[in-house]
Amino acid sequence: MTDTSRVLIFDTTLRDGEQSPGATMTHDEKLEIAMLLDDMGVDIIEAGFPIASEGDFEAVSAIAKASKNSVICGLSRANYKDIDRCWEAVKHAARPRIHTFIGTSPLHRGITNLGQDEMIARIADTVTHARNLCEDVQWSAMDAIRTERDYLCRVVETAIKAGATTINIPDTVGYTLPQESADIIAMLLEKVPGADQVIFATHCHNDLGMATANALAAVSAGARQIECTINGLGERAGNTALEEVVMAIKVRRDLMPYTTRIDTTKIMNLSRRVSQVSGFPVQFNKAVVGKNAFLHESGIHQDGVLKNVETFEIMKPADIGITETNIAMGKHSGRAALRTKLADLGYELADNQLNDVFVRFKALADRKKEIYDDDLIALMTDSAANT
Ligand code: KIV
Ligand code: ZN
Repeated sequence: MTDTSRVLIFDTTLRDGEQSPGATMTHDEKLEIAMLLDDMGVDIIEAGFPIASEGDFEAVSAIAKASKNSVICGLSRANYKDIDRCWEAVKHAARPRIHTFIGTSPLHRGITNLGQDEMIARIADTVTHARNLCEDVQWSAMDAIRTERDYLCRVVETAIKAGATTINIPDTVGYTLPQESADIIAMLLEKVPGADQVIFATHCHNDLGMATANALAAVSAGARQIECTINGLGERAGNTALEEVVMAIKVRRDLMPYTTRIDTTKIMNLSRRVSQVSGFPVQFNKAVVGKNAFLHESGIHQDGVLKNVETFEIMKPADIGITETNIAMGKHSGRAALRTKLADLGYELADNQLNDVFVRFKALADRKKEIYDDDLIALMTDSAANT
């Protein structure tokens, strides 16, 4: 990649996202989501973990065959069996990638029972094997953040020498904070021989609610691939949300002078489909894609937005593909919003008529939490009947 301002978007909704307990998707649903991601401009789709089950293998193969633009990636542990199975699934893609990982922190080394040198040998061997199968190999140091810094430099150097083209530095347990996330990437870029020849990726979990901030901090320090999921779906508290990092880069170009290939107008549709097929509702106040993310109910906000939308909105609903109105009618709404809303519904009112409807609207809003268009139409029909 020659454009140093380009940030690659690596979507793992179908792998890390699907690892959320209860978020299992069917073969056809995965294929549909993958096609939407491909069409939206995602650079790399992690389609699954082929060794995990026959179903995962079939889904990754089908996505590899059907993809048009995106690199299709599969996950594998650091052994030949996993890597071979992964290759069998992704090899059908026009642009396949093998992603292999091993836990490098003391806790994870304890689980695999490998000493530091044995692990180095394993990384060299498995990355070389993957690279003999596929030109595009991503290597991840699972739990990188809790790995001793000098050892992290050694394992990253080993993976680069063995042929990895992307090095991923995951915050597997969502433990880091933005400054540390940036410092680690900066340190690796400075200290590891060959670091300038590969792409560094950031993969953050959201256990402390920091996944978006940590990913952006890593980019500021030189990472050029963000691993993320739609709606932030993922293990435990989830992963970095794709819609948040992409919109942050778009909205704050002054502080984040980078570009992505994402067609942001497709975000809302993907968010809704992922929510439907995974069965995970999106929280109402979720950044960017929550039901309330662009809704204004208080009279002061509604009035401001009606006069100049930028008073209370930093991005346009249309930028993420929202076509519905951004005015929510409720007991906090004012006259100006009611007049605009009724005009949208086809009712142009004189001032005295508006006063009358406004009184009845407030009485209704005190009784009912949300006022829908149909409620307003009923109010207007009532009004006409009584005059
Ligand atoms: O969180 C993590 O460390 C992972 C790796 C497999 C990349 O998901
Ligand atoms: Zn993860």
